[in-house]
Amino acid sequence: MNMKVAVLGAAGGIGQALSLMLKNRLPKHSHLALYDIAPMTPGVAVDLSHIPTDVDIIGFSGDDPTPALVDADVVMISAGVARKPGMDRADLFSINAGIIKGIMEKIAAVCPTACIGIITNPVNSMVPVAKEVLSQKGVYDPAKLFGVTTLDVTRAKTFVGQCKKIDPTPLRIPVIGGHSGVTILPLLSQLGLDFTRAEVEMLTDRIRNAGTEVVDAKSGGGSATLSMGQAAGAFCLKLVNGLLGTPDLQICAYIDDGGQYAGFFAMPIVFGRNGIEKILPIGPLSDYEQEQFDQMLPILKSEIEQARQL
Ligand SMILES: NC(=O)c1ccc[n+]([C@@H]2O[C@H](COP(=O)([O-])OP(=O)(O)OC[C@H]3O[C@@H](n4cnc5c(N)ncnc54)[C@H](O)[C@@H]3O)[C@@H](O)[C@H]2O)c1
Repeated sequence: MNMKVAVLGAAGGIGQALSLMLKNRLPKHSHLALYDIAPMTPGVAVDLSHIPTDVDIIGFSGDDPTPALVDADVVMISAGVARKPGMDRADLFSINAGIIKGIMEKIAAVCPTACIGIITNPVNSMVPVAKEVLSQKGVYDPAKLFGVTTLDVTRAKTFVGQCKKIDPTPLRIPVIGGHSGVTILPLLSQLGLDFTRAEVEMLTDRIRNAGTEVVDAKSGGGSATLSMGQAAGAFCLKLVNGLLGTPDLQICAYIDDGGQYAGFFAMPIVFGRNGIEKILPIGPLSDYEQEQFDQMLPILKSEIEQARQL
């Protein structure tokens, strides 16, 4: 089966980095469609089309994403505005919620069975907004809607590698909860490494605030784009391979938890032919992680509730 992936927001910092990775790494014979309101988007596709891989690519701009969405199996969304210094992810809520609503209406009409990965912040609220629209249109499938939290895992691996002076590549670190501030909870106790309490607190804090580290370092020029493009690409490739039937593709993503925790929750899942094949248990928590978990739940719930009231 030839997969089609649509990237919406493709002319932006994340969209371009993600599209570059997908042009290079999607399975042979895949189709890649880029869309953004920015007029340069067809040019981004022309630029990438000169890379010699067996992935065809086309770009669309204008007001309507429909041509990019036709027959899409996966839609990756980074459309919206990003943070500037002094802003937190919640400041993006109203603008980005409007954009996500509009895009979901198009997806519901054009490719209602596609898997959807939402990168646009605040992820904690954008995914529930998407659910509301898809449900109203009668096409909501909880196995196919994801908030992309892969960057939190990427950062956790990097920072643990630095702290312990080890190769971060093979580390598997579950990061659960949500994708903002204290709702990001890395489960370092499950790594089988010895951490002091001070190391756990330092690492947890750095993983939670890593986005702000980038926003401040870029001095008003944007938020994480390259590491995020790489993380979203890794997420998308696993999803595509799951849809193609490759077994045991485990990842953490922010999904509908069926009411188990907060309504939506980032946790380990396995991809399969229909999106989520299995939701895995979050596993044992240390006393510190349990404390953090208890403090985070009401915050995450209120961010989800904010989306429902829109
Ligand atoms: N999930 C994560 O871990 C994570 C990490 C970093 C950033 N983000 C978020 O990702 C989003 C994108 O970040 P960026 O750095 O790429 O921003 P960016 O400003 O570089 O790109 C956003 C793109 O969206 C486009 N756009 C705006 N409205 C649109 C619409 N209705 N349809 C299609 N395209 C539209 C813009 O033209 C722009 O090209 C932001 O909300 C940011 O906060 C998420």
